Amino acid sequence: MPDTVDFTDIRVSEDAIEAVEDVLRGGRYVKGPVVERFESAFAEECGVDHAVGVSSGTAALRLALQAADVGPGDDVFVPGHTFFATVSPVLSLGANPVFVDVDSETYTMDPDSLADAAADAENPAAVIPVHIYGCLAEMGAIRSIADEHDLFVLEDACQAHFGDRGEDVAGAAGDAGAFSFYPSKNMTVAGDGGMVTTDDPDLAREMRELRNHGRDDAGTHLHLGLNYRLDETNAAVGIDQLERVRDWNERRNAAAQRYTERLADVDGVETPTEPDDAFHVYHLYVVQTDDRDGLREHLDDRGIGTGIHYETPAHRHPAVEDRTDPDTLPVTERLVDRIVSLPMHPRIEDDEVDTVCEAIAGYLE
Ligand SMILES: Cc1ncc(COP(=O)(O)O)c(C=O)c1O
Repeated sequence: MPDTVDFTDIRVSEDAIEAVEDVLRGGRYVKGPVVERFESAFAEECGVDHAVGVSSGTAALRLALQAADVGPGDDVFVPGHTFFATVSPVLSLGANPVFVDVDSETYTMDPDSLADAAADAENPAAVIPVHIYGCLAEMGAIRSIADEHDLFVLEDACQAHFGDRGEDVAGAAGDAGAFSFYPSKNMTVAGDGGMVTTDDPDLAREMRELRNHGRDDAGTHLHLGLNYRLDETNAAVGIDQLERVRDWNERRNAAAQRYTERLADVDGVETPTEPDDAFHVYHLYVVQTDDRDGLREHLDDRGIGTGIHYETPAHRHPAVEDRTDPDTLPVTERLVDRIVSLPMHPRIEDDEVDTVCEAIAGYLE
């Protein structure tokens, strides 16, 4: 029997499979000790006091906002350049997503754009910087603006497990941090799952209640909560993944450095910027080029799969499109037709990276 099982681009180890079997044989599937162990280990690894296991990254975002009393009429600042799940929890609480632009080099929230939007807003309440593709947003500048306007800072760290920038670690750099364990992420639970991190004991307690029908330990329903729990089987896989994710992040980062070196002399392709003081965990390796669709076709013909993250910026989806003038987000709008995600996973080999780079050079030169 092999000692690992392929699971999308991640590996679920035999140890994890045995841990899942133990849970199944033990008969306790929810609200048990394995989730608690996973939460403690995750909090320690992240450097925060509390981690709350939940059913998805979307649930993590929603519970943190709800526990912070974000509700109808509140303005919540989100980048236009993100997956729509950053926005849907805001809408689901009746709050108002206000879209801001991103930095042209790191693709993360532009603090100047945030400062302008916060100054113009009627009811500024929260900001969700997204550590897109695995690069931390400029949290120091974002926290200063948040202090000025009394904003709750919720990191969307769904793509950035254990990335850092300066003194900041993903999930420990705001009032709360939301993580996803969806199978394609840097670590998974072999299914859907998420985690919310915070140093605030009251916020953590309320999120624990909200994920479990809004109940306290005595069984009283204090708030409108639904079922956002993480299962014991998923937590068993998560504990094992947590021990491996830093190594996988190193491999992703090494593959990214190789891409960037190999593509440095190829005209017509812009490689991603990794800030000097950052450890970028490269959930995705995204380059920019003018003829994006032509390049993708060329790579596809050579058996090289690529992606676009994301084809439509968040502010232009029909659920929200009447709220934002796209001209106010020029960087986001420019990126959308130029970005292409190259193959990236922890097991990618040097020669595979080289093959992709040669194919790109062959098309552009
Ligand atoms: C930036 C971002 N935010 C939120 C989410 C939502 O996570 P999930 O799919 O676990 O609900 C994801 C992942 O899908 C994501 O990439």
